[in-house]
Amino acid sequence: MLAATLLAAFATGALAQQLNGNASLVSNITSSACPTGNGAHIIVARASLEAVGFGTIGAVKDAVLAQVPGSTAEFVNYPATLDAYFMSETTGVYAMRTLIAAYIANCPCQPLVVMGYSQGAQVTADSLVGQQVTTFPDNMTLAGGVAIDQPLPDSTLSRVAAMVIMGDPTFNTNESFHVGTASKNALFPREDVSNFERTGLASRTQSYCDALDPYCASGSFDNISVHLGYVKEYGVAATTFVVHQLKQYKGCAAGNATGGANGTAGGTNGTSGGAAPTSSPPAYTGAAVNVYGASSAMLMAAMAALFAYML
Ligand SMILES: *[C@@H]1O[C@H](CO)[C@@H](O)[C@H](O)[C@H]1NC(C)=O
Ligand SMILES: *[C@@H]1O[C@H](CO)[C@@H](O)[C@H](O)[C@H]1NC(C)=O
Ligand SMILES: *[C@@H]1O[C@H](CO)[C@@H](O)[C@H](O)[C@H]1NC(C)=O
Ligand SMILES: *[C@@H]1O[C@H](CO)[C@@H](O)[C@H](O)[C@H]1NC(C)=O
Ligand SMILES: *[C@@H]1O[C@H](CO)[C@@H](O)[C@H](O)[C@H]1NC(C)=O
Ligand SMILES: *[C@@H]1O[C@H](CO)[C@@H](O)[C@H](O)[C@H]1NC(C)=O
Ligand SMILES: *[C@@H]1O[C@H](CO)[C@@H](O)[C@H](O)[C@H]1NC(C)=O
Ligand SMILES: *[C@@H]1O[C@H](CO)[C@@H](O)[C@H](O)[C@H]1NC(C)=O
Repeated sequence: MLAATLLAAFATGALAQQLNGNASLVSNITSSACPTGNGAHIIVARASLEAVGFGTIGAVKDAVLAQVPGSTAEFVNYPATLDAYFMSETTGVYAMRTLIAAYIANCPCQPLVVMGYSQGAQVTADSLVGQQVTTFPDNMTLAGGVAIDQPLPDSTLSRVAAMVIMGDPTFNTNESFHVGTASKNALFPREDVSNFERTGLASRTQSYCDALDPYCASGSFDNISVHLGYVKEYGVAATTFVVHQLKQYKGCAAGNATGGANGTAGGTNGTSGGAAPTSSPPAYTGAAVNVYGASSAMLMAAMAALFAYML
């Protein structure tokens, strides 16, 4: 299986070594619980076709949990399918915005970290700055109380200490926070990247994308090894970035969110863990298929490439 192969490759890496001896610091808890001490809450969106859970990028989450005691994590429960991609991705945005809203409401002033891989990268970025892809239907409804093509309010975004996205199929070469060798736009390049700058998120984001990746850099679907390699390639860098961002996080002093002062307030509710978190995005009733027009052939190729890899 894909995940097993990747994890086996990863297990010998430097990132895995960082985790050794610190497994007890790693916990998965639901959004009703808050981080303790100087911890952060991490919300993770997995890649297409990965089993429900944290997916490959969960290794980066685990490394952050180990290095920032008191932190918590949960995953976005969404379809992550490649067929009916628009429905899947949109459901992911609903689900992630629901988790973000619950965390912001329950845990005043503490930092939020978001991460996503592949389709999960798009879910993550869309959740924060809005779903803006030319070939997607626009503005069908609200998600998390905000039109789906609009950014979340500044009072929410001020709580985001770091965003890590890998192999984003909406990558746009204009993004100032790009890391990697890609020089071409993605499958569905984001129309407007200005929301990252306008909201200040650009300086708190890293988007990892290398040349030849068919999903984020318009490479060939004949070889998706680049697309599958980001945790191994950049996992340590991403972890370092997140830990650094958390040290910079100013709590409510930065954004004047409501609640406790200086990032120390907030609940200690529900620190026990283990239960797989779930969320209940509203049922999606819009058009689910054929939203790509000329891109549908590309999507079929994308799906075929992933399935071929898994066999
Ligand atoms: C965290 O969740 C992952 C994925 O569900 C699971 O493999 C892992 O064992 C969990 N870790 C702990 C400490 O519960
Ligand atoms: C967390 O604790 C606070 C204060 O005790 C309480 O008001 C709040 O309802 C709790 N939240 C959850 C989700 O249990
Ligand atoms: C575990 O994490 C703590 C806190 O980050 C660190 O001080 C300690 O050195 C780590 N232990 C190991 C064995 O890496
Ligand atoms: C978004 O949808 C709402 C409800 O249908 C509509 O009133 C509004 O004009 C739309 N906004 C845009 C920018 O299309
Ligand atoms: C990138 O930015 C340039 C200059 O602002 C603009 O002309 C171009 O259309 C942008 N490209 C994309 C793909 O957004
Ligand atoms: C796929 O691409 C990677 C990176 O360019 C390369 O190392 C590998 O040999 C290629 N595999 C095949 C089967 O072409
Ligand atoms: C925070 O709120 C206080 C009091 O309302 C105000 O004086 C201050 O300028 C605000 N700071 C920021 C960064 O918005
Ligand atoms: C927050 O921290 C600053 C700097 O340490 C301090 O001056 C201020 O009094 C603190 N505010 C509260 C409400 O604790």
